[in-house]
Amino acid sequence: MADSGSVREDSRIVIEDDWPGYSLDLFTYPEHYCEDIESVYIPHGIIMDRTERLARNIMDDLGDHDIVVLCVLKGGYKFCADLVEFIKGLSRNSSKSLLMRVDFIRLKSYLNDQSTEDLHILGGEDLSVLSGKNVLIVEAIVDTGKTMKALLEHVETFGPKMVKVAGLLVKRVPNGLGTPPDYVGFEIPNRFVVGYALDYNEYFRDLNHICVISEAAKIKYKV
Ligand code: HPA
Ligand code: MG
Repeated sequence: MADSGSVREDSRIVIEDDWPGYSLDLFTYPEHYCEDIESVYIPHGIIMDRTERLARNIMDDLGDHDIVVLCVLKGGYKFCADLVEFIKGLSRNSSKSLLMRVDFIRLKSYLNDQSTEDLHILGGEDLSVLSGKNVLIVEAIVDTGKTMKALLEHVETFGPKMVKVAGLLVKRVPNGLGTPPDYVGFEIPNRFVVGYALDYNEYFRDLNHICVISEAAKIKYKV
């Protein structure tokens, strides 16, 4: 591996606390956010390359099974769609293949940049389809782990055969995380990030890169 320094044995890319991100001038982004973002924290291309590798790891572990992919909305829609595309590509081009169903669950626990105590499960499909199935939960970001713990408990009530979790981002938070996801894209510092479907009060989902928002933008889009 070319840059083994940034990859730990537990197989995630670790972004250190002092990483300032890339200057905005190095990339393209929508003009409507030019005042609102401070830096490009993880460029879209790197997200895609890392997701491709996660797809391969998932295929190596679960290939030849049937799985139900459970996409955690709204933040997980980009990661889930891209991960599923990569797994489809692998299924077309190797002797292993993974039959996937895709279901959705919608959660909300954030207001502004703060996690609220209560987790809202806002509908989605009837999860009794998960009974007896191998389930892959696909979530964009895991921070305190509270949401994931509540979600896992919820999913378990439907009697799945197996549950795995793929998280694109895991935050290093104090007292965080019961069980880390089985597949992790990036471990990041405890900073609020947006883009690639991650929002701040519903803004910034229409940004390809994962970015850090400015303090001014936190005020501008506050509710
Ligand atoms: N950004 C957007 N949504 C989030 C975050 C974040 O950093 N953490 C938890 N939900
Ligand atoms: Mg959100």
